[in-house]
Amino acid sequence: MQILVTGGAGYIGAHVCVELLKNDYAVVIADNLCNSSSETIGKIRQLTGKDVIFREIDVTDTSAVESVFLSAEIAGVIHLAGLKAVGESVEKPLEYYYNNTVSTMVLAAACLKHGVKKFVYSSSATVYGNNKVPFVETMELLPAANPYGETKAISERILTDVARATPGFSVSLLRYFNPVGAHESGLIGEAPRGVPN
Ligand SMILES: NC(=O)c1ccc[n+]([C@@H]2O[C@H](COP(=O)([O-])OP(=O)(O)OC[C@H]3O[C@@H](n4cnc5c(N)ncnc54)[C@H](O)[C@@H]3O)[C@@H](O)[C@H]2O)c1
Repeated sequence: MQILVTGGAGYIGAHVCVELLKNDYAVVIADNLCNSSSETIGKIRQLTGKDVIFREIDVTDTSAVESVFLSAEIAGVIHLAGLKAVGESVEKPLEYYYNNTVSTMVLAAACLKHGVKKFVYSSSATVYGNNKVPFVETMELLPAANPYGETKAISERILTDVARATPGFSVSLLRYFNPVGAHESGLIGEAPRGVPN
């Protein structure tokens, strides 16, 4: 069973790939390396002793995503690729809206086209907006405080509507806070290009 992990060369994605491989899933990584390095792919292989297919593509590119779906037997998608710096999203809103929402639509469309029924989306706790902590999943979502958060809220709505309209299409939305730390091996961890924002 092959799982497509977008953003698999990134901080969270690399850890997800290691866990998937340890649990005997085959992994296809799609990442354009805009905030990561191909060295991480080697480290994932080193840590697990298993191979992984790496496709250096932009997941907003419909034909590139199509080529990945055509060349693999994708059983599910874990979509982590995204731009994530809150401050930068205020300065470059179009870049953030484009990257984070178009990627979600392109991948969802590819899933529908190829009969892939399972989609896990890396959202963010930022979709709870100015709600009182502790946040609970049944809370009404409030406007996010920045464009980054809005890209997550919009992507959630797109995926929820697609799931409603598509029998058997299952979407999971993960709304986590900022993870910290690195893999116990020290081989993978947060390693952004440039200064962490
Ligand atoms: N780290 C956090 O604090 C946090 C918290 C909540 C949610 N998230 C979300 O989880 C996901 C992963 O976060 P992370 O911390 O691992 O970030 P990261 O920047 O380390 O990883 C994201 C990866 O996506 C890739 N990418 C970005 N746009 C792409 C595109 N259009 N096509 C292909 N690859 C692309 C980058 O090169 C990078 O490798 C993001 O969607 C982020 O918004 C992160």
